[in-house]
Amino acid sequence: MDRDIFLLGIETSCDETAAAIVRRDVDGHGDIVSNIVRSQIEEHKAFGGVVPELAARAHVVHLDTIISRALDDAGMGLADIDAIAATAGPGLIGGVLVGLTTGKALAAATGKPLIAVNHLEGHALTARLTDRVEFPYLMLLVSGGHSQIVLVKGVGDYERWGSTIDDALGEAFDKAAKLLGLGYPGGPEVEKAARNGDPKRFALPRPLLREKRLDFSFSGLKTALRLAAESVAPVSKTDIADLCASFQAAVTDIVAVRSAQALARFAAEYEDVVPTYVVAGGVAANAAIGSALREVARQTGANLVIPPPALCTDNGAMIGWAGAERFALGLVDGFDVAARPRWPLDELARGVL
Ligand code: KG4
Ligand code: ZN
Repeated sequence: MDRDIFLLGIETSCDETAAAIVRRDVDGHGDIVSNIVRSQIEEHKAFGGVVPELAARAHVVHLDTIISRALDDAGMGLADIDAIAATAGPGLIGGVLVGLTTGKALAAATGKPLIAVNHLEGHALTARLTDRVEFPYLMLLVSGGHSQIVLVKGVGDYERWGSTIDDALGEAFDKAAKLLGLGYPGGPEVEKAARNGDPKRFALPRPLLREKRLDFSFSGLKTALRLAAESVAPVSKTDIADLCASFQAAVTDIVAVRSAQALARFAAEYEDVVPTYVVAGGVAANAAIGSALREVARQTGANLVIPPPALCTDNGAMIGWAGAERFALGLVDGFDVAARPRWPLDELARGVL
Protein backbone atom coordinates (compact mmCIF):
# COMPACT_ATOMS: atom_id res chain seq x y z
CA MET A 1 0.00 0.00 0.00
CA ASP A 2 1.45 3.35 -1.03
CA ARG A 3 -0.64 5.46 1.36
CA ASP A 4 -2.18 5.35 4.83
CA ILE A 5 -5.25 3.16 5.03
CA PHE A 6 -8.10 3.37 7.54
CA LEU A 7 -10.13 0.36 8.66
CA LEU A 8 -13.32 0.10 10.66
CA GLY A 9 -13.09 -2.93 12.97
CA ILE A 10 -16.19 -4.58 14.45
CA GLU A 11 -16.06 -7.11 17.31
CA THR A 12 -19.11 -8.97 18.67
CA SER A 13 -17.93 -12.54 19.29
CA CYS A 14 -18.45 -12.65 23.05
CA ASP A 15 -19.65 -10.13 25.61
CA GLU A 16 -18.09 -6.90 24.33
CA THR A 17 -19.77 -4.82 21.63
CA ALA A 18 -16.84 -2.99 20.09
CA ALA A 19 -15.84 -0.86 17.12
CA ALA A 20 -12.66 1.03 16.29
CA ILE A 21 -10.89 2.94 13.56
CA VAL A 22 -7.24 2.02 12.97
CA ARG A 23 -4.70 3.44 10.58
CA ARG A 24 -1.93 1.51 8.84
CA ASP A 25 0.84 3.61 7.31
CA VAL A 26 3.00 2.87 4.27
CA ASP A 27 5.69 1.27 6.46
CA GLY A 28 3.19 -1.20 7.87
CA HIS A 29 2.99 0.56 11.25
CA GLY A 30 -0.36 1.14 12.85
CA ASP A 31 -2.15 3.31 15.32
CA ILE A 32 -5.55 3.46 16.89
CA VAL A 33 -7.62 6.45 15.85
CA SER A 34 -10.64 5.56 18.01
CA ASN A 35 -11.64 2.54 20.07
CA ILE A 36 -15.07 2.12 21.66
CA VAL A 37 -15.95 -0.91 23.80
CA ARG A 38 -19.25 -1.56 25.51
CA SER A 39 -18.94 -4.37 28.04
CA GLN A 40 -22.01 -6.50 28.75
CA ILE A 41 -20.93 -7.44 32.27
CA GLU A 42 -24.09 -5.87 33.73
CA GLU A 43 -26.35 -7.98 31.47
CA HIS A 44 -24.67 -11.26 32.43
CA LYS A 45 -23.65 -10.66 36.05
CA ALA A 46 -26.79 -12.12 37.59
CA PHE A 47 -26.19 -15.39 35.72
CA GLY A 48 -22.55 -15.81 36.75
CA GLY A 49 -21.45 -16.14 33.11
CA VAL A 50 -22.21 -15.06 29.54
CA VAL A 51 -25.73 -16.00 28.35
CA PRO A 52 -25.39 -16.31 24.54
CA GLU A 53 -28.94 -15.16 23.68
CA LEU A 54 -28.68 -12.10 25.90
CA ALA A 55 -25.28 -11.32 24.41
CA ALA A 56 -26.59 -11.48 20.83
CA ARG A 57 -29.56 -9.27 21.68
CA ALA A 58 -27.37 -6.67 23.38
CA HIS A 59 -25.08 -6.58 20.33
CA VAL A 60 -28.14 -5.92 18.11
CA VAL A 61 -29.29 -3.09 20.38
CA HIS A 62 -25.93 -1.34 20.77
CA LEU A 63 -23.71 -2.05 17.76
CA ASP A 64 -24.98 0.80 15.53
CA THR A 65 -24.36 3.37 18.26
CA ILE A 66 -20.92 1.97 19.04
CA ILE A 67 -19.91 2.17 15.36
CA SER A 68 -21.22 5.77 15.11
CA ARG A 69 -19.27 6.70 18.23
CA ALA A 70 -16.08 5.15 16.83
CA LEU A 71 -16.49 7.21 13.63
CA ASP A 72 -17.36 10.39 15.58
CA ASP A 73 -14.37 9.97 17.90
CA ALA A 74 -12.13 9.64 14.87
CA GLY A 75 -13.76 12.67 13.25
CA MET A 76 -14.48 10.51 10.22
CA GLY A 77 -17.41 9.30 8.17
CA LEU A 78 -17.81 5.97 6.41
CA ALA A 79 -16.60 7.64 3.21
CA ASP A 80 -13.15 8.11 4.84
CA ILE A 81 -12.77 4.39 5.57
CA ASP A 82 -10.91 2.13 3.13
CA ALA A 83 -12.36 -1.19 4.23
CA ILE A 84 -14.58 -2.79 6.86
CA ALA A 85 -13.34 -5.63 9.05
CA ALA A 86 -15.66 -7.72 11.20
CA THR A 87 -15.10 -10.77 13.39
CA ALA A 88 -16.43 -13.84 11.54
CA GLY A 89 -15.57 -16.32 14.32
CA PRO A 90 -14.76 -18.17 16.45
CA GLY A 91 -17.24 -17.18 19.12
CA LEU A 92 -20.85 -17.21 20.19
CA ILE A 93 -22.60 -17.60 16.87
CA GLY A 94 -25.50 -15.20 17.54
CA GLY A 95 -23.13 -12.37 18.34
CA VAL A 96 -20.77 -13.16 15.47
CA LEU A 97 -23.74 -13.06 13.08
CA VAL A 98 -24.75 -9.60 14.33
CA GLY A 99 -21.28 -8.12 13.78
CA LEU A 100 -20.54 -9.85 10.49
CA THR A 101 -23.95 -9.04 9.01
CA THR A 102 -23.54 -5.41 10.04
CA GLY A 103 -20.09 -5.38 8.43
CA LYS A 104 -21.51 -6.86 5.23
CA ALA A 105 -24.38 -4.35 5.18
CA LEU A 106 -21.99 -1.39 5.62
CA ALA A 107 -19.67 -2.78 2.95
CA ALA A 108 -22.56 -3.33 0.55
CA ALA A 109 -24.02 0.12 1.19
CA THR A 110 -20.72 1.95 0.75
CA GLY A 111 -19.07 -0.24 -1.87
CA LYS A 112 -16.06 -0.76 0.44
CA PRO A 113 -14.26 -4.11 0.69
CA LEU A 114 -15.13 -6.52 3.52
CA ILE A 115 -12.57 -8.45 5.54
CA ALA A 116 -13.88 -11.36 7.63
CA VAL A 117 -11.45 -11.56 10.53
CA ASN A 118 -10.65 -14.56 12.68
CA HIS A 119 -10.93 -13.26 16.25
CA LEU A 120 -7.82 -15.22 17.27
CA GLU A 121 -5.84 -13.59 14.48
CA GLY A 122 -6.94 -10.26 15.96
CA HIS A 123 -5.38 -11.24 19.29
CA ALA A 124 -2.32 -12.66 17.54
CA LEU A 125 -1.50 -9.53 15.51
CA THR A 126 -2.23 -6.90 18.20
CA ALA A 127 1.42 -6.93 19.32
CA ARG A 128 2.41 -5.74 15.84
CA LEU A 129 0.13 -2.75 16.29
CA THR A 130 1.27 -1.94 19.83
CA ASP A 131 4.94 -2.98 19.74
CA ARG A 132 5.78 -3.42 16.04
CA VAL A 133 6.78 -7.02 16.69
CA GLU A 134 8.29 -8.77 13.66
CA PHE A 135 7.45 -12.31 12.48
CA PRO A 136 8.10 -15.00 13.64
CA TYR A 137 7.07 -14.84 17.29
CA LEU A 138 5.33 -16.96 19.87
CA MET A 139 1.98 -16.09 21.36
CA LEU A 140 0.36 -17.28 24.55
CA LEU A 141 -3.37 -16.62 24.22
CA VAL A 142 -5.19 -16.97 27.53
CA SER A 143 -8.77 -15.71 27.57
CA GLY A 144 -12.22 -16.80 28.66
CA GLY A 145 -12.60 -18.95 25.57
CA HIS A 146 -9.06 -19.95 24.61
CA SER A 147 -5.76 -21.15 26.02
CA GLN A 148 -3.17 -21.82 23.39
CA ILE A 149 0.45 -21.38 22.44
CA VAL A 150 0.75 -20.37 18.81
CA LEU A 151 3.72 -19.81 16.53
CA VAL A 152 2.92 -16.69 14.51
CA LYS A 153 4.87 -16.94 11.24
CA GLY A 154 3.00 -14.35 9.22
CA VAL A 155 -0.44 -12.98 8.45
CA GLY A 156 -2.66 -16.05 8.04
CA ASP A 157 0.27 -18.33 8.84
CA TYR A 158 0.05 -19.99 12.22
CA GLU A 159 1.10 -23.21 13.92
CA ARG A 160 -0.70 -24.22 17.07
CA TRP A 161 1.84 -25.77 19.42
CA GLY A 162 -0.48 -26.39 22.35
CA SER A 163 -4.08 -25.89 23.48
CA THR A 164 -6.23 -26.66 26.44
CA ILE A 165 -7.80 -30.09 26.34
CA ASP A 166 -10.70 -28.93 28.52
CA ASP A 167 -11.37 -25.51 30.10
CA ALA A 168 -9.76 -22.26 28.99
CA LEU A 169 -7.67 -20.52 31.66
CA GLY A 170 -10.05 -17.56 32.01
CA GLU A 171 -12.92 -20.02 32.27
CA ALA A 172 -11.04 -21.83 35.06
CA PHE A 173 -10.68 -18.51 36.92
CA ASP A 174 -14.38 -17.80 36.36
CA LYS A 175 -15.42 -21.25 37.62
CA ALA A 176 -13.13 -20.96 40.65
CA ALA A 177 -14.72 -17.62 41.50
CA LYS A 178 -18.23 -18.99 41.11
CA LEU A 179 -17.42 -21.98 43.31
CA LEU A 180 -16.13 -19.65 46.04
CA GLY A 181 -19.07 -17.26 45.79
CA LEU A 182 -17.05 -14.42 44.24
CA GLY A 183 -18.38 -12.16 41.49
CA TYR A 184 -18.25 -12.33 37.70
CA PRO A 185 -15.98 -12.09 35.75
CA GLY A 186 -13.98 -14.22 38.13
CA GLY A 187 -10.38 -13.55 37.13
CA PRO A 188 -10.00 -10.11 38.72
CA GLU A 189 -11.95 -11.28 41.82
CA VAL A 190 -9.73 -14.32 42.34
CA GLU A 191 -6.63 -12.18 41.84
CA LYS A 192 -7.86 -9.64 44.39
CA ALA A 193 -8.72 -12.29 47.00
CA ALA A 194 -5.41 -14.10 46.38
CA ARG A 195 -3.44 -11.01 47.41
CA ASN A 196 -4.15 -11.68 51.10
CA GLY A 197 -3.91 -15.46 50.86
CA ASP A 198 -1.35 -18.19 51.51
CA PRO A 199 -0.48 -19.88 48.19
CA LYS A 200 1.04 -22.88 50.00
CA ARG A 201 -1.90 -23.78 52.24
CA PHE A 202 -3.66 -26.04 49.73
CA ALA A 203 -1.59 -28.40 47.59
CA LEU A 204 -3.43 -28.28 44.26
CA PRO A 205 -2.40 -30.40 41.25
CA ARG A 206 -0.53 -29.15 38.18
CA PRO A 207 -2.26 -31.30 35.50
CA LEU A 208 -0.19 -32.52 32.50
CA LEU A 209 2.87 -30.70 33.78
CA ARG A 210 5.15 -33.74 33.69
CA GLU A 211 4.28 -34.43 30.06
CA LYS A 212 6.38 -32.94 27.27
CA ARG A 213 3.43 -31.77 25.14
CA LEU A 214 2.58 -28.10 25.22
CA ASP A 215 -1.11 -28.63 26.04
CA PHE A 216 -3.00 -27.38 29.08
CA SER A 217 -5.65 -28.96 31.28
CA PHE A 218 -7.49 -26.97 33.94
CA SER A 219 -10.64 -28.93 34.71
CA GLY A 220 -8.98 -31.29 37.24
CA LEU A 221 -7.70 -28.26 39.08
CA LYS A 222 -11.23 -26.96 39.42
CA THR A 223 -12.36 -30.27 40.97
CA ALA A 224 -9.36 -30.23 43.33
CA LEU A 225 -10.28 -26.67 44.35
CA ARG A 226 -13.85 -27.75 45.09
CA LEU A 227 -12.65 -30.66 47.23
CA ALA A 228 -10.21 -28.38 49.08
CA ALA A 229 -13.03 -25.89 49.75
CA GLU A 230 -15.32 -28.67 50.97
CA SER A 231 -12.61 -29.93 53.30
CA VAL A 232 -12.68 -26.66 55.26
CA ALA A 233 -16.39 -25.77 54.80
CA PRO A 234 -17.99 -23.51 55.82
CA VAL A 235 -15.31 -21.33 54.25
CA SER A 236 -14.16 -18.17 56.01
CA LYS A 237 -12.75 -15.08 54.32
CA THR A 238 -9.25 -16.34 55.11
CA ASP A 239 -10.06 -19.75 53.60
CA ILE A 240 -11.26 -18.06 50.41
CA ALA A 241 -8.10 -15.96 50.21
CA ASP A 242 -5.92 -19.05 50.72
CA LEU A 243 -7.91 -21.09 48.18
CA CYS A 244 -7.60 -18.29 45.61
CA ALA A 245 -3.88 -17.87 46.28
CA SER A 246 -3.29 -21.63 45.99
CA PHE A 247 -5.32 -21.80 42.77
CA GLN A 248 -3.49 -18.84 41.25
CA ALA A 249 -0.12 -20.31 42.25
CA ALA A 250 -1.00 -23.60 40.53
CA VAL A 251 -2.09 -22.00 37.24
CA THR A 252 0.86 -19.60 37.32
CA ASP A 253 3.25 -22.56 37.63
CA ILE A 254 1.55 -24.35 34.75
CA VAL A 255 1.67 -21.31 32.47
CA ALA A 256 5.30 -20.54 33.40
CA VAL A 257 6.56 -24.09 32.79
CA ARG A 258 4.72 -24.41 29.47
CA SER A 259 6.01 -21.01 28.36
CA ALA A 260 9.60 -21.99 29.15
CA GLN A 261 9.16 -25.22 27.16
CA ALA A 262 7.64 -23.38 24.21
CA LEU A 263 10.44 -20.80 24.22
CA ALA A 264 13.03 -23.58 24.28
CA ARG A 265 11.39 -25.11 21.19
CA PHE A 266 11.29 -21.72 19.49
CA ALA A 267 14.99 -21.18 20.22
CA ALA A 268 15.78 -24.59 18.72
CA GLU A 269 13.76 -23.90 15.56
CA TYR A 270 14.89 -20.30 15.05
CA GLU A 271 18.49 -20.18 16.25
CA ASP A 272 19.14 -16.72 14.80
CA VAL A 273 15.99 -15.01 16.04
CA VAL A 274 15.76 -13.33 19.46
CA PRO A 275 12.51 -14.88 20.72
CA THR A 276 9.55 -12.64 21.34
CA TYR A 277 6.80 -13.96 23.58
CA VAL A 278 3.48 -12.16 23.22
CA VAL A 279 0.81 -12.65 25.83
CA ALA A 280 -2.78 -11.90 24.83
CA GLY A 281 -6.31 -12.40 26.14
CA GLY A 282 -8.00 -11.22 29.32
CA VAL A 283 -5.87 -13.37 31.65
CA ALA A 284 -2.80 -11.41 30.50
CA ALA A 285 -4.05 -8.75 32.93
CA ASN A 286 -3.20 -11.05 35.87
CA ALA A 287 -0.20 -9.57 37.69
CA ALA A 288 0.99 -12.86 39.24
CA ILE A 289 1.05 -14.58 35.86
CA GLY A 290 2.67 -11.50 34.32
CA SER A 291 5.53 -11.48 36.81
CA ALA A 292 6.11 -15.24 36.45
CA LEU A 293 6.31 -14.75 32.67
CA ARG A 294 8.72 -11.85 33.09
CA GLU A 295 10.99 -14.21 35.04
CA VAL A 296 10.70 -16.91 32.33
CA ALA A 297 11.54 -14.30 29.69
CA ARG A 298 14.55 -13.14 31.70
CA GLN A 299 15.85 -16.69 32.06
CA THR A 300 15.36 -17.59 28.40
CA GLY A 301 16.52 -14.26 26.94
CA ALA A 302 13.12 -13.66 25.36
CA ASN A 303 11.50 -10.33 24.74
CA LEU A 304 8.15 -10.34 26.60
CA VAL A 305 5.34 -8.28 25.10
CA ILE A 306 2.08 -7.83 26.97
CA PRO A 307 -0.13 -5.24 25.26
CA PRO A 308 -2.00 -2.84 27.56
CA PRO A 309 -4.98 -4.52 29.30
CA ALA A 310 -7.57 -2.72 27.16
CA LEU A 311 -5.99 -4.26 24.06
CA CYS A 312 -5.56 -7.72 25.65
CA THR A 313 -9.29 -8.06 26.26
CA ASP A 314 -11.70 -8.05 23.33
CA ASN A 315 -11.89 -4.81 21.35
CA GLY A 316 -12.52 -3.48 17.85
CA ALA A 317 -8.98 -2.20 17.28
CA MET A 318 -7.56 -5.72 17.15
CA ILE A 319 -10.10 -6.63 14.47
CA GLY A 320 -9.48 -3.42 12.53
CA TRP A 321 -5.72 -4.01 12.69
CA ALA A 322 -5.94 -7.67 11.57
CA GLY A 323 -8.21 -6.41 8.79
CA ALA A 324 -5.61 -3.80 7.83
CA GLU A 325 -2.81 -6.39 7.70
CA ARG A 326 -4.94 -8.63 5.47
CA PHE A 327 -6.17 -5.76 3.29
CA ALA A 328 -2.59 -4.63 2.70
CA LEU A 329 -1.89 -8.12 1.31
CA GLY A 330 -4.96 -7.98 -0.92
CA LEU A 331 -6.89 -10.46 1.19
CA VAL A 332 -10.57 -9.49 1.10
CA ASP A 333 -13.73 -11.57 1.42
CA GLY A 334 -16.96 -11.99 -0.52
CA PHE A 335 -20.41 -11.42 0.94
CA ASP A 336 -20.93 -15.19 1.02
CA VAL A 337 -18.40 -15.58 3.84
CA ALA A 338 -20.00 -17.47 6.74
CA ALA A 339 -19.98 -16.81 10.48
CA ARG A 340 -18.17 -19.65 12.24
CA PRO A 341 -18.60 -20.72 15.87
CA ARG A 342 -15.35 -22.72 15.62
CA TRP A 343 -12.40 -21.58 13.52
CA PRO A 344 -8.93 -22.73 14.56
CA LEU A 345 -6.13 -20.31 13.68
CA ASP A 346 -4.12 -22.94 11.86
CA GLU A 347 -7.02 -23.40 9.41
CA LEU A 348 -6.68 -19.83 8.17
CA ALA A 349 -5.72 -19.32 4.57
CA ARG A 350 -2.06 -18.35 4.28
CA GLY A 351 -1.60 -14.65 3.92
CA VAL A 352 0.99 -14.96 1.18
CA LEU A 353 0.09 -13.86 -2.31
O1 KG4 B 1 -10.09 -11.87 26.37
P1 KG4 B 1 -11.28 -11.72 27.24
O2 KG4 B 1 -11.72 -10.34 27.62
O3 KG4 B 1 -12.55 -12.35 26.60
C1 KG4 B 1 -12.53 -13.55 25.92
O4 KG4 B 1 -12.30 -13.53 24.68
O5 KG4 B 1 -12.74 -14.56 26.59
O6 KG4 B 1 -11.00 -12.59 28.54
C2 KG4 B 1 -11.91 -12.66 29.61
C3 KG4 B 1 -11.37 -13.64 30.62
C4 KG4 B 1 -12.36 -13.94 31.72
O7 KG4 B 1 -12.42 -15.34 31.88
C5 KG4 B 1 -11.74 -13.25 32.94
O8 KG4 B 1 -12.06 -13.88 34.15
C6 KG4 B 1 -10.27 -13.33 32.63
O9 KG4 B 1 -10.18 -13.12 31.24
N1 KG4 B 1 -9.51 -12.31 33.36
C7 KG4 B 1 -8.59 -12.59 34.30
C8 KG4 B 1 -8.16 -11.33 34.81
N2 KG4 B 1 -8.83 -10.34 34.16
C9 KG4 B 1 -9.65 -10.97 33.25
N3 KG4 B 1 -8.12 -13.75 34.75
C10 KG4 B 1 -7.19 -13.71 35.72
N4 KG4 B 1 -6.74 -12.56 36.29
C11 KG4 B 1 -7.19 -11.35 35.87
N5 KG4 B 1 -6.73 -10.22 36.43
ZN1 ZN C 1 -10.87 -12.70 22.71
